[in-house]
Amino acid sequence: MYSEKVMDHFMNPRNMGEIEDADGVGTVGNAKCGDIMRIFLKVEDGVIQDVKFKTFGCGAAVATSSMATEMVVGKTVEEALKVTNKAVMEALDGLPPVKVHCSLLAEQAIHAALWDYAQKHNITIEGLKPPVEDIEEIEEEE
Ligand code: FES
Repeated sequence: MYSEKVMDHFMNPRNMGEIEDADGVGTVGNAKCGDIMRIFLKVEDGVIQDVKFKTFGCGAAVATSSMATEMVVGKTVEEALKVTNKAVMEALDGLPPVKVHCSLLAEQAIHAALWDYAQKHNITIEGLKPPVEDIEEIEEEE
């Protein structure tokens, strides 16, 4: 049911934890399952130097967050915005269809953390929208 990569990132999650003096923190919840994700970003000169995540979520949420954090570290904030849940799923060799909504948690938490960073530093990140509280709304829009 799960690819080897998903299992690997679930069993050995990368970048799990928190950053105490984070420049941006984003928390989102998934209305469907009640799971919660928090992302911490350390940003210097517009480049993501460090990223950590914490989740009250399922295995697919853990695996997608782990992969997503690896994909955004070292990128500029604008590049990080382009790391979609689809790209993360592809990097994990796919997820079962019922678990696709879990991958949105990581994407939305990163966006929320970028939003927090932008607000605190009074900058605008092209294409970044304010965080949505209810992930289900996003899915319904698609
Ligand atoms: Fe809730 Fe996966 S079941 S994030």
